[in-house]
Amino acid sequence: MNVTPLARQLLDWFAVAARVMPWRAQGNPYFIWVSEIMLQQTQVATVTPYFERFIARFPTVQALAEAPLDDVLKLWEGLGYYSRARNLHRGAHYVLTHFAGALPRTAAQILEIPGIGPYSAGAILSIAYGVPEPAIDGNVIRVFSRLYALQHAFDKAQPKRDLDRLVREHIPVAEPGDFNQALMELGALVCRPKNPDCEGCPVVSFCQARAEGDPTRYPFKGKKTKVKAVTLPVVWVQNKAGQVLVCQQNEKGIFKDLWCLPDRERLQSDGSPCQVKEQGLLTTVEHTLTHRQLTLEVYSARLLTAKQPLPEDWAWVDPQNNTTHAIPVAYQKVFRFVDEHPLLLMMAT
Ligand code: ADE
Repeated sequence: MNVTPLARQLLDWFAVAARVMPWRAQGNPYFIWVSEIMLQQTQVATVTPYFERFIARFPTVQALAEAPLDDVLKLWEGLGYYSRARNLHRGAHYVLTHFAGALPRTAAQILEIPGIGPYSAGAILSIAYGVPEPAIDGNVIRVFSRLYALQHAFDKAQPKRDLDRLVREHIPVAEPGDFNQALMELGALVCRPKNPDCEGCPVVSFCQARAEGDPTRYPFKGKKTKVKAVTLPVVWVQNKAGQVLVCQQNEKGIFKDLWCLPDRERLQSDGSPCQVKEQGLLTTVEHTLTHRQLTLEVYSARLLTAKQPLPEDWAWVDPQNNTTHAIPVAYQKVFRFVDEHPLLLMMAT
C-alpha cells in the first residue's frame, strides 16, 4: 500500500516516541471518545488523572448515560469548558438510545452525536476503528502550516477544506489512527508553538517553514479572540453549621449547571430563599477564562432566615469538604481565600 514519505517518517517516529496514555492501550471506542473530549483545549498531563477517575466511575456508555449530570460535572470539576461534560453526557444518552450503546463507525452517524464535531469524529473513527479520516486540531494546523508554509489563518469558524484535503493526501489507509496521533504528538512534543525542536523533528526535511528560517511565523493568526472584562458581585453566606450557600447556574453560559456563590442580585430578589444582611466587601478574586477576564467581588453577609429545605437549585455545602457539588475554579479561589483568612471573615460578619 502507498504511504507518502512524510507519513512513513511520522509513523516510524511515533512507533518509538509515543507516550503511554491510559486510553491508548485498549482500543476501547468509548475510552477514546472520553479522552478526545477531555483533550480538547487541555494537555495530556492534566487530562490523565481526570480520565482515570471518570472511567473508574463511568466504565461504559451506559453507565455514563444513566448517571446524574451532577455526578458527571463533579468529576469534570477543574477541567473547565464544562459544556464538554454536558454534551458528553447527552452524547452517551444518544448513543445508548440510537446506537444501542456502541459508537457508530461512519462519519455521518458519529457526527449526529451531541458534542462530536469533525475533529472528534475523525479522531475516534481513525483511532478506534481504523477509518482513514483526518482529525484536525490546533496541533495539526500548526504542523501542516509549517510543513507547507501555509499563509492562511485557520480560524475556528472557517472551513478548513483545503487543509482537510492536504491531510487526506497523507493519511495511510492501514494506520490512520497512528498517523493522526503522530501528528498530535509531534505538535505537542516537537513542533511546539514556541521553541520548536527542529533538530529533533522526524520530518524537518519536508518543512518549508524551517527552510524559510523561522517556523514560529506559522500558523498565521486570524483575528484575536476578544476578551471581555466582567465584574460580578457575589455573596458569601454561611449557616450555623459553617456551610456556605451556593446556587446552580440555570441560565445559558459557561457555568451552566455548576454551583456558584449566589449573585448579589439573585440573593436579594423576590425569589431568593434566604434573607441576609450584607456586611461589606470581603475580597475580590480574578480569574481568566478564554473569552472573559472575570472579577468576583465577594461580599460577606449574615444569614437572617433561610427556607428549609432550600429549593433544589440552592444548597449548603461544606467549603472544606465538598464531594457533591461541582464548583468552577473561579469560585474555588474564593473558598481558598476564606479558608486562608478565617479572621477576616469573623470580623466581617
Ligand atoms: N491530543 C488530542 N488527542 C490526542 C491523542 N489521541 N494523542 C495525543 N494527543 C492528543
